[in-house]
Amino acid sequence: MRINRRKFLGASGALLQVQRSAAQPLPAPQQAHPGVWRFRLGAPEAITPVATRHYAPAAAGFAALPALTACPVSVSGSASRRGYLVRIPLAANEIVYGLGLVRIPLAANEIVYGLGLQLQSLIQRGLKKRLRVNADPKMDTGDSHAPVPFYLTTGGYGVLVDTARYATFYCGHKDRRGAPQPVTESVPAAIGQDALPAAYRRYRFNQATEVLVEIPEAQGVDVYVFGGPKMCDAAQRYNLFSGGGPLPPRWGLGMWYRVKNDYDQEEVVKLASEFRDRRIPCDVIGLEASWETHAYSSTFVWSKKYPDPARLVKSLATQSFRLNLWEHAFTHPDSPIYQSLLAHSGDYDVWGGLVPDFLDPEARKIFSGYHEKEHIALGVSGYKLDECDNSDFTGNWSWPEVSSFPSGADGEQMHCLYGARYQDTLQSIFEKRKERTYGLVRSAGALAAPYPYVLYSDLYDHKEFIRGVANMGFSGILWTPELRNANDPEDLIRRLQSVALSPMALINAWYIKNPPWKQVERNANNADRLAPDWESVEAKCRGVMELRMRLIPYLHAAFVRYQRHGMPPFRALVMDYPDDPATWAVDDQYLVGESLLVAPVVAGQSARNVYLPAGDWFDFWSGTRHPGKQRLRVTPPLEQIPIFVKEGSILPLAEATLHTADPAAFRLHAQVYGDSPRPTVLYEDDGSWRPSLAEVTLTWDGARESGAVSRSGSGGGPRYVVTTWKAVG
Ligand code: GAL
Repeated sequence: MRINRRKFLGASGALLQVQRSAAQPLPAPQQAHPGVWRFRLGAPEAITPVATRHYAPAAAGFAALPALTACPVSVSGSASRRGYLVRIPLAANEIVYGLGLVRIPLAANEIVYGLGLQLQSLIQRGLKKRLRVNADPKMDTGDSHAPVPFYLTTGGYGVLVDTARYATFYCGHKDRRGAPQPVTESVPAAIGQDALPAAYRRYRFNQATEVLVEIPEAQGVDVYVFGGPKMCDAAQRYNLFSGGGPLPPRWGLGMWYRVKNDYDQEEVVKLASEFRDRRIPCDVIGLEASWETHAYSSTFVWSKKYPDPARLVKSLATQSFRLNLWEHAFTHPDSPIYQSLLAHSGDYDVWGGLVPDFLDPEARKIFSGYHEKEHIALGVSGYKLDECDNSDFTGNWSWPEVSSFPSGADGEQMHCLYGARYQDTLQSIFEKRKERTYGLVRSAGALAAPYPYVLYSDLYDHKEFIRGVANMGFSGILWTPELRNANDPEDLIRRLQSVALSPMALINAWYIKNPPWKQVERNANNADRLAPDWESVEAKCRGVMELRMRLIPYLHAAFVRYQRHGMPPFRALVMDYPDDPATWAVDDQYLVGESLLVAPVVAGQSARNVYLPAGDWFDFWSGTRHPGKQRLRVTPPLEQIPIFVKEGSILPLAEATLHTADPAAFRLHAQVYGDSPRPTVLYEDDGSWRPSLAEVTLTWDGARESGAVSRSGSGGGPRYVVTTWKAVG
């Protein structure tokens, strides 16, 4: 057995040594980008995520990451009658904390994360996942709106298997005869029993093992390895390889509200005015199915309910609202583009409509051309791209895997690629017009990071939705734990808090007539039976939405770092603290940007534990300072979602405005946490296609207790002004 030693610095600054066991034959990998290696195994298929990609890697970003000389893991593969099998070793690590004489050995295998939207599990080690595209899976099998054949490990590297097949990942728990046997089955004390879920034994501590990836049909595959040395570096490399994260327009980071699916133009205008009158923050109003003459399948033609869409867009714009349109791709025979798409679609229909082949440039041109002329040219800001996943669990309405498409893709490949190719078909309109958009999509896959689209689901378990926020940072995808109706006002407010601290603050009222704070119960809401105390519920909801508005400059800066450096703005704790085993299983908290740790509460929970990693943390609400590396018990009042600010941060909070265009949204209150905080950098964004983003740096002089603002570059657009400074704690 070959032992290969790697060394890197842990988050605590302590030297970590990892002894890796590996025993696989090595095809020589090629360095594709700094710290990114490609193993070409056998004869890869022609249609894969990399082969059909739209964005080139964001090459400039790699320079800021640590230089690496060797590929951190070996990969091997073999063809069989079943397809192609890839093997990637997982180490039985002996992690040694400390320097010199102080050595605290901790037996712990690499823990595996990622594989896309896995709502029911954060840790993938010990699980079998078949990455099949599907809406609303209820079991933890790998079926997902957005499965991604990419994983990251606490060993500090990531692996992308470049396939558009329903690949099966066995994440380190299969006993191959002759493989090393586990030394111990018990959880090492240093990890702590409550740090891992009950099924921890699956993780097989101290056993060298491997990830097996079986790809049906294929006789070869490219496997990309993204080096660290830390997990977060590997995630950044993957996101940069994908093209870097998106930078949403500022309005995209405001509040979103989707109206009931049968609303008409007048009802939309009325609701928009009501929002402004009642001081409900909102930047984007989304229409659901009723705007089209036919929706299942879609015509993309404005219905009689919307007699003057241009006027609607204009009148909403005067109140600083943007308009977003729901649709799916299935093209109804009455659609003006049906005939021209016919030769560029799959051989099976869905809901009586064509399935455009978005791998075919002609289909993309026809589809995007019509959308530009009929919607975007009127001022529509973007789309919600529904039902581009698959439907084994929801009535099986989608195209079968046996379909064939003019591009040569079969139905399985098309399912794996459809979300991303649909996004870039519409993205081509915005690119051409040099406009930015932000929207929703119900499927995504590999290399999705650059798309300004956020994933959502008809599933509705609040805990799973929170896990989604933490989980998606591993896979280069944004996710919204959208709010619809609720069991009671507590459920409503707790859900809204999670929404406010997520990539898209979306209220998706597609099946309720009145805003949910007027009546949480769906039938009563639709019968206009409003709750007697709805105004007090509305006030609490307003408070939550105002918190979102106050965080926009901070969130915007986090997205700039996603675009430039590939750093996910929302991510699980383990991403930043992989050498702290107590973070490994934390799936009900997440990090936002550089300074915030969020621990949402679900209805019925009067208290919860919050794990604070190394360093001191300040309670956002009370300003109380807490040392890290501890589990804290918190009892947050209903109005408060637990948020902790990292010691050494300057947190800029904007005024709470009704929309992002209000000049007051640029007036900041700087809160300072700790005596000598790091400078905070914000970016001034004029909303243009490629904004120059002047850098605004906030610094704090602890001795003098005074703050300063400096600016470099010119950004155009409104300027940030810090109106107050406050030293907290
Ligand atoms: C679902 C979608 C919902 C809503 C609904 C309208 O597929 O997930 O958010 O848009 O369609 O019919």
